[in-house]
Amino acid sequence: MSKSFAEIHRENYRAQANAYGIDEAFISLLVESFYSKVRADEELGPIFDNVIKDNWAEHLGKMKQFWGAIALKTGEYHGRPMPAHMRLKNVTPAHFEKWLALFAENLEEISPTPEAKAFFNDRAQNIARSLMMGMFYNPELDLRGE
Ligand code: HEM
Repeated sequence: MSKSFAEIHRENYRAQANAYGIDEAFISLLVESFYSKVRADEELGPIFDNVIKDNWAEHLGKMKQFWGAIALKTGEYHGRPMPAHMRLKNVTPAHFEKWLALFAENLEEISPTPEAKAFFNDRAQNIARSLMMGMFYNPELDLRGE
């Protein structure tokens, strides 16, 4: 059987990621090192610990699947990020700024190439923006014309 277009696309995408130094081992390092920083952060740490409690191993596993699905097209992540964040009632846009700053700081320390760093920062910024839209944006406020 010949390969499907999707399969060829996935293979090319993964080969490009690998050329940037992005593979399963790097994603594992990225997730472990980033969440060590998050847990040590006095603002973000308690927000995560309150929800995740003793289930950090499970959360980190899920986050490795999430980033693997994005960067390597593994297809292994089946969660739903939006409702998971909509439930967090005490989170503010300032927390997202801090999250993104820590994420960038971590990539600065561990990225194998500038392309890997740019790839993950871009994706994180886009996803953060869309989560913030869901959590904080109220179109009524714009439509009132005040
Ligand atoms: C201040 C910013 C953020 C906070 C406080 C936060 C907090 C959390 C918490 C507490 C959970 C666990 C939810 C649960 O198990 O019910 C979670 C899950 C998750 N977060 Fe975040 N998050 C933030 C930003 C982000 C960003 C920017 C991304 C992506 C780039 C992200 C991706 C995810 C994913 C994929 C999950 C797993 C959702 C699932 O499948 O259950 N988070 N987050």
